[in-house]
Amino acid sequence: MMSILLTGGAGYIGSHIAVELLTLGKEVVIFDNLSNSSEKVLDRIKEITGKSPKFYKGDLRDREDLDHVFKNENIESVIHLAGLKAVGESVRKPIEYYDNNIGGTTILLEVMRDNGVKKIIFSSSATVYGDNTNVPLKESYEVGKPSNPYGWSKWFIEQILQDLYVSDPSWHIVIFRYFNPVGAHPSGLIGEDPKGIPNNLTPYITQVAIGKLEKLGIFGDDYDTKDGTGVRDYIHIVDLAKGHIAGLSKLEEEGINVYNLGTGKGSSVLEVKDAYEKAVGNKIPYEIKERRPGDLAEAYCDASKAKEELGWEAKFDIDQAAVDAWNWQSINPDGY
Ligand code: NAD
Ligand code: WQD
Repeated sequence: MMSILLTGGAGYIGSHIAVELLTLGKEVVIFDNLSNSSEKVLDRIKEITGKSPKFYKGDLRDREDLDHVFKNENIESVIHLAGLKAVGESVRKPIEYYDNNIGGTTILLEVMRDNGVKKIIFSSSATVYGDNTNVPLKESYEVGKPSNPYGWSKWFIEQILQDLYVSDPSWHIVIFRYFNPVGAHPSGLIGEDPKGIPNNLTPYITQVAIGKLEKLGIFGDDYDTKDGTGVRDYIHIVDLAKGHIAGLSKLEEEGINVYNLGTGKGSSVLEVKDAYEKAVGNKIPYEIKERRPGDLAEAYCDASKAKEELGWEAKFDIDQAAVDAWNWQSINPDGY
């Protein structure tokens, strides 16, 4: 039987995709260097689905390691999630980010081509819209100038995939631009487990709720938005994972296709805080701080292209994400 290779499959998003694929009876191979994840996730995936993904520990930039996977397994397509993703860290370590994200991707594409595998789904990001603030953001819009090296790395990889397709139209390429993934699997067995102090809003909130952090800092309340705080498109991780199942059917066609994966709705920081307070059953202490450099007032998508072409749309709202995230955090106060 043919397998689907998940690079970075031990991470937050990849582990949820693995669960959806295994549940559908697909064979899954995970390749991950565990730089931002734990091997324990593999047992949790087995606990949820009753099946184990195959696991190879390795780094994308190690051509031999990667080639070994393609020689050893019957890979039909790749979902390429591996990458570094901390925006602030990317400003301090641009070389590491470009090397890992872009260098890792070009080696992956080379090894795929050499092994005759030409189907790939790439995890891009809303960050590629950069300073294009024309919400709701549509795939047809010009991408904008990202405010950090992480964002540029996604922007360049999208361009590399476009150039690859021009050079060889027998590739099947789907680019997903994720908005803000939140929540956890309803089992509470897998979820987001950031190392150190979280950069993103919702893991910060759950760590305040569990008592690991004192209070939430809200980065600005003077934006031109409904309540002055930043507005984003928060998408439940299970919805996001199911988007990839829909993407796999598109991957049967030759071509390169770009889709936003979001809900199409914007929520403010205060609205997100309120949803988590409801789920937790307690107030989340907070203070208003300065705006965070590089932040936009609003970013949410037009989600209609994925609905029309893939038959996929988000089903869960921020309240459900808050319930599932809190369930995960309370069962696993220290993560994996
Ligand atoms: P994550 O850090 O939980 O998962 C990424 C995984 O890739 C980790 O398990 C890490 O160990 C692995 N990895 C990193 N570099 C590697 C390398 N060189 N070789 C092998 N493995 C490597 O992050 P995530 O939130 O699951 O994100 C997955 C993908 O989605 C990333 O590409 C990220 O940029 C993208 N994305 C994430 C978000 C988000 O907010 N979570 C939003 C948009 C896009
Ligand atoms: C959300 C909102 C903050 C933390 C980032 C990346 C993006 C994508 C998703 C990977 C904003 C506010 C946050 C806090 C706060 N990742 N906030 N206090 O910045 O929309 O997107 O993650 O591709 O590329 O840039 O997500 O969760 O950091 O912030 O007030 O402690 O919450 O200002 O309005 P962001 P976020």
